[in-house]
Amino acid sequence: MIPRLTLQKLVSPSFSLSEAEQLRQALTQTPKTIPPQYFYDDRGSQLFEQICLQPEYYLTNTEMQLLETVAPLLPQQTRACELVELGSGSSRKTNIILDAYQREGLPLRYTPIDISSSILELSAKHLLQNYPNLEVHGIVATYEQALAHLPPATLPCRLLYFLGSSLGNFNRHQCDVFFTQVADGLQGGDYFLLGIDLHKDPRILEAAYNDAQGVTAQFNLNILTHLNRRFGANFVPDRFRHVALYNQIEWQIEMYLESTIPQDVYIQGLDLRLHLEAGERILSEISRKFNLDQISQELTTKGFKPIATWQDQRGWFGLTLVQKC
Ligand code: AVJ
Repeated sequence: MIPRLTLQKLVSPSFSLSEAEQLRQALTQTPKTIPPQYFYDDRGSQLFEQICLQPEYYLTNTEMQLLETVAPLLPQQTRACELVELGSGSSRKTNIILDAYQREGLPLRYTPIDISSSILELSAKHLLQNYPNLEVHGIVATYEQALAHLPPATLPCRLLYFLGSSLGNFNRHQCDVFFTQVADGLQGGDYFLLGIDLHKDPRILEAAYNDAQGVTAQFNLNILTHLNRRFGANFVPDRFRHVALYNQIEWQIEMYLESTIPQDVYIQGLDLRLHLEAGERILSEISRKFNLDQISQELTTKGFKPIATWQDQRGWFGLTLVQKC
């Protein structure tokens, strides 16, 4: 019997030289920053799932509802195709897409890509139980690694999807590089579906990143625990405070870890000593907010043809589907 689940690991549990250099660079610039991929250790991925359940964090529910109406249109457009998800996490949204392909009687093949192997394995196993005809090939990797090493498609085309507005973590330049990697990873005729959070009242945005239960704060502080384990650092999370603000000039939420006292931190894996002033902020995440037309336009400059865009009734969240020329 052919196994229905295969896993490919492109990241190692310890750190590589390039990761260490990237972190050193991030922590020694002004202001100090931390690459947001370090949010997603096992605990961080769990906390993110909990954020998605917070009433203030409208992104997940709004996108899921929008997907319910959009998903049936996808198989009509793409016909038999391999579903490839970047940053798959719990794969909750994939159920909606798989249902649509199943209803059309199309073959089900799913390639989730995630940086956290435990959440990837767990969600793959759940999906296999629910879809007897599904084949899953999971890839534990960064986006860049995975896009450079996508296994050859076994179905006529691919639908690559990147949901939840994770694109918002990239600054303009990183976004441009990412779109190039996506374009290079796909072949002519393949599809790309992108979910993005749209511009809206800053009060709604700030509430979403400062939930009353404090889950986002825990998520933010957990990045320090992760760095302690992965790089032998000695951050004391209690000496930091979660801050999330909307920057109206850059149109982005900025999340910071604010040092509550003057302190020194040592990162053994980098042999790096850091000094932080009281009130000094480490930028841990940007979450940019977008305009649908502008993003679709940018994708056309990367060799994609716009197929359709959708947004919810409030105009809070958008999806764009494009096809590689
Ligand atoms: C997964 C990157 C889309 O920016 O909204 C949630 C991560 N950070 N709450 C976002 C996040 C704080 C999330 N993304």
